[in-house]
Amino acid sequence: MTAGKLQKQLEILAERDRHRLHMPGHKGRGLPLAALDFTEIPGSDNLHDPREIIADVQNDLAGLYGSVSAQLVVGGTTAGNMAALMAGAAPGEAVLVPVNSHRSVFSALALGRIEGRFITPVLDGTLGFPRELTVEQVEAALDRFPEVRGMILTTPTYYGTVSDTAALAECLHRRDKWLIVDEAHGAHLAFCPDYPRDAVASGADVVIQSSHKMLATYTQASLLHCCSRRIDPQRIARFLTMLESSSPSYLLMMAVENGVREAAQSGHTIFEGIAKRWDQTQKRQRAGTKLRLYAPPAAQPYDKSKWLWAVADGSGLAIAKKWRESFGVYCEIETAGYLLALTGMGTRTEDLDALDNAVAACQEPVPEPEACPVDPVPVAARFNQTVPLWQAFYEQRRQQCPLAACAGRIAARSVIPYPPGVPVLLPGDTITREMAGYLAGCLRRGETVIGADKDAGLEVLAV
Ligand SMILES: Cc1ncc(COP(=O)(O)O)c(C=O)c1O
Repeated sequence: MTAGKLQKQLEILAERDRHRLHMPGHKGRGLPLAALDFTEIPGSDNLHDPREIIADVQNDLAGLYGSVSAQLVVGGTTAGNMAALMAGAAPGEAVLVPVNSHRSVFSALALGRIEGRFITPVLDGTLGFPRELTVEQVEAALDRFPEVRGMILTTPTYYGTVSDTAALAECLHRRDKWLIVDEAHGAHLAFCPDYPRDAVASGADVVIQSSHKMLATYTQASLLHCCSRRIDPQRIARFLTMLESSSPSYLLMMAVENGVREAAQSGHTIFEGIAKRWDQTQKRQRAGTKLRLYAPPAAQPYDKSKWLWAVADGSGLAIAKKWRESFGVYCEIETAGYLLALTGMGTRTEDLDALDNAVAACQEPVPEPEACPVDPVPVAARFNQTVPLWQAFYEQRRQQCPLAACAGRIAARSVIPYPPGVPVLLPGDTITREMAGYLAGCLRRGETVIGADKDAGLEVLAV
């Protein structure tokens, strides 16, 4: 990978500063990459008030994506989503929030005392997960909640499905509302003409991308784009300063720049190759087999960097174990009903060959595939807000309640099955019998559910 401007500058500083009597404590020695790990000194600029090299790099990155301005984010899309939402809506104001949003969106509602007006996307007809939001759904929600300042949208989803961002942006802008796009899983799209159109090109107002999820950068490195003045970029920057470390990692910032430059150069070739393999795999599929590579309904655009394998007989965990132990293939998500294999800038042909072999080894015929929903949570039962989220979040009178006795109580903290890290209960929600039963089932199967415990149950409001 060729060095970007920030890496070159850090190399100059490393050459110059032979006796570092400034932070960090490694003084450029010992750890891998320590030589390039700097703090704010003359020549390294300051992420929280960029005027020199960081401002220059951010300008270049905005140019590569076609946005008006770009901000390096070292706290991941988690921090980017929170900063954008808190800049876009003041305490007491409302925002349209799809129920499949990432937990950071709900954190922003709590910290910013913003009211969520929830909207349920179209569910996939075969697998049941929230697939996309349509203009009709958003128009109906705007008629019902005209008070919202704007909407946040996740596209592409973890599963590769996309919404028509351009049409949604137009619909929101017509009513003078903003659109923030959580493009955590789509930092590659701008460089791949045969993939779904990216959010910056589609007219979103603010776009946040986890560079680290798809590009060759370090974990936690993200990029936030402003594309209009509907949300003030300076306000977003002020929130980022509050939400992120005052000692942001230069290694992360350097990695974003290098990774984006590389993607702009060769992302097209790499992701085109991945999409071709995805197409070939689809064509080879036979009906009645255990593993099926998911495809959206005909003619819908899809992000083919995501390989979602539905497991017809619910033996996904056993298959994942076999893939790991016999083929060295590790997936992003492993569940009984599906396995999600994610590709990225670093994916090579041999990785996809290994996946092919792993799939072939488990591809038995299944007489009658059972329905194995990706997201079996009763989506409509989610977010039954009785107390405002922020109020329940700050309420000190709380207690543990066993799952069997939870129905009718009010949740005091978020409950989040992992993966994919999307909450199913928010502070302030009345817990339904259905939800308590669903969570008990997850825990019985040994799945990770943050905020729920087999014995202690859930934290609920004591009042
Ligand atoms: C849709 C979505 N948004 C935001 C995030 C958070 O991104 P990051 O890990 O960069 O903080 C994730 C993480 O998985 C995600 O799936």
